Amino acid sequence: MKIHGMAAVITGGGSGLGAATARHLASAGAKVAVLDVNMDMARAVAEETGGIALECDVTSDEQAETAIRQAREVHGPARISVCCAGISESRRMVDRNGPAPLAHHRRLVEVHLVGTYNICRLAAADMAAVDPLPDTGERGVLINTASIAGFDGPAGAITYDAVKAAIAAMSLPMARELSRYAIRVMAIAPGIFETPMAIELRQDYIDKMTQAIPFPKRFGQPVEYARMVETIVTTPMLNGETIRIDGGLRMT
Ligand SMILES: NC(=O)c1ccc[n+]([C@@H]2O[C@H](COP(=O)([O-])OP(=O)(O)OC[C@H]3O[C@@H](n4cnc5c(N)ncnc54)[C@H](O)[C@@H]3O)[C@@H](O)[C@H]2O)c1
Repeated sequence: MKIHGMAAVITGGGSGLGAATARHLASAGAKVAVLDVNMDMARAVAEETGGIALECDVTSDEQAETAIRQAREVHGPARISVCCAGISESRRMVDRNGPAPLAHHRRLVEVHLVGTYNICRLAAADMAAVDPLPDTGERGVLINTASIAGFDGPAGAITYDAVKAAIAAMSLPMARELSRYAIRVMAIAPGIFETPMAIELRQDYIDKMTQAIPFPKRFGQPVEYARMVETIVTTPMLNGETIRIDGGLRMT
């Protein structure tokens, strides 16, 4: 699918990977809707990209329905959906204070897994209602954000690892289910990228991780994630899969 002239919705678009995606898609001619809980950041990205900022907690069905509707009213139905909303907040299941509160587990499941599904169901319904594009025959593409943590299972982040594995696991069944509408579904599994989320990690952990990368031994840059989004959007044969973008890193 060509990017120019298409409407795109990007959750977590106010920061990090989502903001880089909004900038990159806008520079390629997309009309971007920046969905986030942090409206100051969403507005700044929207202003920079000529897009719109919409308040949306992805865990809320009502807020997501409203935001997707508002995006449709301004830009038309989105043919590109990119889910980047996320939190890290990893913790051990058991530490010296005893078991982790179950609310911690539930919160991560809500934001990542429920939130991604929530946006996908609404974006896919909008895509299913538009005409297929004359050049490729497709109606739209859903791109979700997993993590290599979902495959490599580092300790101390069981719930985060599990929700990211679940997001990766959704790609194939979602692509199969939506194939009758000619909607593709892909996930990207980043390694360690230089965003506010990763910068909050302990410096010794960051150093250990970047040194463990075969090549290049550095943070991934958010624009590299955004270029992967571009590749997925513009390559119709990419469907039902999760692509690692990690310099060959395997977490231990
Ligand atoms: N940075 C990395 O190294 C890395 C690696 C692997 C995966 N990821 C994943 O990439 C995604 C983007 O992360 P990032 O590094 O850009 O982080 P970030 O903190 O820079 O951006 C996350 C954005 O999501 C928003 N957000 C949080 N909860 C939300 C909610 N309930 N509803 C709507 N928006 C919400 C935040 O306000 C923020 O703008 C996340 O899913 C993260 O787990 C990041």
